[in-house]
Amino acid sequence: MSDVPTFLLDGEPVPFVPGQTIIQAALAAGHYIPHLCYHPEFKPHGSCRVCMVRVNGHMAPSCTTPARAGSEVQNRTEELDELRRTLVQMLFVEGNHFCPSCEKSGNCLLQAVAYEQGVLAMDLDYLFPNRPVDGSHPDLLLDFNRCILCELCVRASAEVDGKHVFALAGRGVTKHLIVDAESGRLADTDIAVTDKAVQVCPVGV
Ligand code: FES
Repeated sequence: MSDVPTFLLDGEPVPFVPGQTIIQAALAAGHYIPHLCYHPEFKPHGSCRVCMVRVNGHMAPSCTTPARAGSEVQNRTEELDELRRTLVQMLFVEGNHFCPSCEKSGNCLLQAVAYEQGVLAMDLDYLFPNRPVDGSHPDLLLDFNRCILCELCVRASAEVDGKHVFALAGRGVTKHLIVDAESGRLADTDIAVTDKAVQVCPVGV
């Protein structure tokens, strides 16, 4: 008998290495759990809630919850997918996502999760927030309209690039990405095109 511990994901056994989270083990075993702010190279911080599952009946983010032997995890249920559809729609209406004109279209995680979840039209009203575009940098255009607040650029800039170019400000619906310079302009930072913070954005910011 194998000593590899397993948990059940929608009834199927998933092996894991102790220390792995549910989403890490699931993805490694070829099972998809929808997610937005999880990235394999960064410590999860569980902000988007799209990866929520039920673990032994309790709601938990699969990106921050450790895999445990014998757990019963539900992922693809109508209840959880409905929650994901609502979260994805909230991101669409709280920002300005004009997919047809975005160069990240076709390679965008928000778009991919929306398609996967069958979100083709919004049940919520668009807020059309007034968000700026920063064209101050000679090599980079920063479009705040597309931000989904995953904080990957914040984390990458601090942890990998060692520059702290980005931060989040505000709370709730007013929470937004800022450039951490006195002027607030990208040109007044030492960001470079090759920075991890630039590469890691899952949408088109
Ligand atoms: Fe788990 Fe975002 S991927 S909370």
